[in-house]
Amino acid sequence: MELYDVMRTTFSARDFTDDPLPDETLFKILDHARFASSGGNRQGWHVIIIRDPHTREQLSALTEPAAKRYIAQMQAGESPWNSVDPTSVSAETIAQTSAPARLTEPVRQAAVVLVVCVDLKLVASIDQHLDRVGVISGGSVYPFVWNVLLAARHEGYGGTLTTLAVAQEPRLQALLGIPSHVAVAAVIPMGKPVKQLTRLRRGAVSEFTHVERWDGPPLQA
Ligand SMILES: Cc1cc2nc3c(=O)[nH]c(=O)nc-3n(C[C@H](O)[C@H](O)[C@H](O)COP(=O)(O)O)c2cc1C
Repeated sequence: MELYDVMRTTFSARDFTDDPLPDETLFKILDHARFASSGGNRQGWHVIIIRDPHTREQLSALTEPAAKRYIAQMQAGESPWNSVDPTSVSAETIAQTSAPARLTEPVRQAAVVLVVCVDLKLVASIDQHLDRVGVISGGSVYPFVWNVLLAARHEGYGGTLTTLAVAQEPRLQALLGIPSHVAVAAVIPMGKPVKQLTRLRRGAVSEFTHVERWDGPPLQA
């Protein structure tokens, strides 16, 4: 595929056919994705490739608690899990909210699930002392994660970058034998999408650009 077509059509695939995603193709995808950038080129990523149904079952269960809160906050008109505005949603409401299948089922149904981890001993977390949630550390692993999804699209496959299970990271680490200094960045169900979406909803360039200052005018074509 042409690069811009891949970039404009790599959607979040959550419904998969029964087609397999062979190791040979997965290897090819990862062999291209590995050219992603990382801080100091330290390449702290590790990928755990999961096909075992029992493990996927547990991944699905670990997704549920965060998904319940996500949906409860959405129903309350909040931006879910944001670290700035405290939630008005009670623990009781969250407990009573059910997690929708589109958030918990893909890891069961996909041909394969990739758990992408990053070794925090290799990441320069430049914003770690700021009085806000850290974002910089992710920069040393999400370019790789996105490369995986772009390459998968190029090969006719698809997947979704998911993070809900990471709210249960200690359990994920125990389940998969991941050391405590290695963070889980993404859980990616991958397979052949039932339908290939080609029109993604994204804001226009004028909606997110500010020339010279935050209050500057948007960039024009
Ligand atoms: C950092 C990040 C975390 C995400 N976490 C989840 C998730 O836990 N579960 C999920 O189903 N989708 C998750 N997504 C996928 C987004 O919901 C999806 O990209 C967005 O809705 C746009 O969908 P589209 O790409 O199909 O247009 C995540 C995406 C990003 C970038």
